[in-house]
Amino acid sequence: MGLKEVARQIKEVANIVDVIGEHISLRRSGRNYLGLCPFHADKKPSFTVNEERQIFHCFGCGAGGDVIAFYMKFHNLDFVEAVRELARRFDIPLELSAGKEETSGKREALFELNEKARRFFEHLLWASKSGEVARNYLKTRGLSEKTARLFALGYAPSSYDSLVSHLRLSRFDLALAEEAGLLVRREDGTFFDRFRNRLIFPIFDAARRVAGFGGRILEEGDPKYLNTPETPVYHKSSILYGLSHTRAAIKEDGFGFVVEGYLDLLSLYEAGVKEAVATLGTALTPQHVRLLRGLQAEWFLVFDADEAGFKAALRAAPIFFNAGLFPKVILLPEGHDPDSFVRHYGARAFYDLREGAEEVFDFMIRYLSARFPAGLEGRLALFKELQPALEAIKDPVLREMKISQVAERLKVSESALRKSLKTSPERVGSSPAFSYSERSLVEFVIHFPQYFLELWEAGLPEVLKDKRLLALLKALKNSKFSAASPSDLTLEDLELQSLWSEILLTPPPFKDYPPERVAVEIKSWLLRRRAKTRLESLLKAIKEAEASGREEEALRLLEEYQQLRLQV
Ligand code: CTP
Ligand code: MN
Repeated sequence: MGLKEVARQIKEVANIVDVIGEHISLRRSGRNYLGLCPFHADKKPSFTVNEERQIFHCFGCGAGGDVIAFYMKFHNLDFVEAVRELARRFDIPLELSAGKEETSGKREALFELNEKARRFFEHLLWASKSGEVARNYLKTRGLSEKTARLFALGYAPSSYDSLVSHLRLSRFDLALAEEAGLLVRREDGTFFDRFRNRLIFPIFDAARRVAGFGGRILEEGDPKYLNTPETPVYHKSSILYGLSHTRAAIKEDGFGFVVEGYLDLLSLYEAGVKEAVATLGTALTPQHVRLLRGLQAEWFLVFDADEAGFKAALRAAPIFFNAGLFPKVILLPEGHDPDSFVRHYGARAFYDLREGAEEVFDFMIRYLSARFPAGLEGRLALFKELQPALEAIKDPVLREMKISQVAERLKVSESALRKSLKTSPERVGSSPAFSYSERSLVEFVIHFPQYFLELWEAGLPEVLKDKRLLALLKALKNSKFSAASPSDLTLEDLELQSLWSEILLTPPPFKDYPPERVAVEIKSWLLRRRAKTRLESLLKAIKEAEASGREEEALRLLEEYQQLRLQV
């Protein structure tokens, strides 16, 4: 029995209201059940469970999906793990393919190994003679034992085989420890410790499991930092250092700082600034930003006031905008990083930096202005630089707001700016009666599945540029989809689950028009659009044929062109 089949059976027997009700308290409200969302700092109940459709959705943070999605999110499991647990719970026999068994089992084994290594390093830091060098180093960096213990810092001694021996004694699989990035294999097949003579920073994932490690050299030397390479449980592009420990404070206080280093974060924490997260030696990625967005806080990006800092801020901007977040930028005084700043000036002064923080667009304009000539021409050139960032704002309303803000700052008319911007990616078409966004088209076929196939065939997938919408549509196409019984559809992807549940629980689009009429409009628009594309390519082919003297072909194409013209 395939995994999807097991998932389907789970959804047949498990009532989502019961399952979620065991985790959080729900009360009935009309056709739905409401509760406080477990996935964000919910003040009023925005977490909705719909029994009829067997889905949940939070209108506060956007989390949503079916019972499996809830289990994945709540218990921080992957799809296989969640299906397995629910299957056990509902007595559904489960014979998963060996491959799947293995990947999930392996993740567990890697976490276990990391935990073993973490305890070993921690023990060496506090209880070994050789650990003294690291204990002293902590002192020079101003880190107390309390903070060091809280973040489970450790020490890896200089020898090449201390962890190797430790793991071997406990009968751990050394090849697996290599996969965890803890050991390195020599040519002759023997292993040695990756981390040597370093202060060790365990890197926790959202569930506070040890996903990997960073290690800072204790004396001068290269490289300054050594990190766990990518492993099945460690992906630096989606983990933020410290978040496991600072999430609660960030939610509570409603703001957070994004800094760049392990020691920046620890030093801030030591000083009492407990609202920071740190990237792991990489630029911010969309996955990072998604994590940040989930905390619903105001974000401050803290950068050093050098060229690298400016560049990092410029790079981060569109990624945030894309997620609908508008962070502020804090540039530290020349020569300081968060660590040195907070140690020199204290926590109060660090918090006060928020007052002088700039909106990202203001920062970008100010920074770029210095690089372009004054005058209209320079301002328009500058605008070109801002364009990708503006175009990254998906929400049409937000985008309009930012366009006016930028226009005002640049002293250029809004319409001039708007003209040079690509049309909003949201709005794909309009007909005399109404205009529709990609999103509303997908909403429509989900709410009115009787038109799904017809519109699909008329070219709906061709007009979707948004990858998530397209992926959702394809998944629906591949299932025996009907909105009435969504249990026929199993999506492994949590993001798609959220999107799907959100759409199911929001009112159908175009409510002022009867759906039959809307379907006809959309269909004719899709067909016209397709014809237009065909016309364009015909026109090109005709010109080419004429240019190279293939007259007969050109005539034939022209005929097709004229016929098609009549239809459009
Ligand atoms: N980093 C890395 N590898 C390096 C250098 C840096 O992975 N060779 C990552 C680390 O996550 C580090 C961050 O980039 O924390 C910031 O680097 P840097 O500012 O050089 O280090 P700090 O954290 O400030 O450490 P220190 O204050 O000890 O120099
Ligand atoms: Mn530093």
